[in-house]
Amino acid sequence: MAYQDIVYPQDTTAFYQTLKQQLDLYTADAPDALAALANSVSVLMAALPDINWVGFYLVRGRQLVLGPFQGRPAVMTIEKGQGVCGTAWETGAPQIVADVHCFSGHIACDLSSRSELVLPVMDDDGHVLAVLDVDSASPNRFSSDDAAGLALTLAVLRPAITRLATDLAAMERQAEG
Ligand code: SME
Repeated sequence: MAYQDIVYPQDTTAFYQTLKQQLDLYTADAPDALAALANSVSVLMAALPDINWVGFYLVRGRQLVLGPFQGRPAVMTIEKGQGVCGTAWETGAPQIVADVHCFSGHIACDLSSRSELVLPVMDDDGHVLAVLDVDSASPNRFSSDDAAGLALTLAVLRPAITRLATDLAAMERQAEG
């Protein structure tokens, strides 16, 4: 399907409803979970104003491992509790960081990043499967409304994230013999 740029509503609730529809449009018929998530970060990058990085880190055993993203190259693995992403994994709670310079342990990837929003994605049992990380070069870019709105839109992607996490875990078990 050819991508069409659309004008997103200004109102936060309407914005995230439209974003959810767009994510659904570009991922619902995806033949593969990885393909769906790759397209999703492209939709998020095009839709969210004033961001410089967006992507997934997937829980792979004892680490988060970099998944589909858009932006500058980033750190490939993160330990539980490390940085903003590892904190979202450990606590299972969204992390809104108004100024990354004030977050002790923040992992700098793109040096121009100043604020950050990280949302955990959980399975039905409350285990974190992945985190979505969004960065901005502007301080204080993300509000609690952004966190809530983006969490709602992520519901569309939960099946793909669950499928990918399950497939990767099976692959890893097979590799271990
Ligand atoms: N800043 C993140 C690391 C990932 S990059 O920003 C893409 C963190 O502190 O967990």
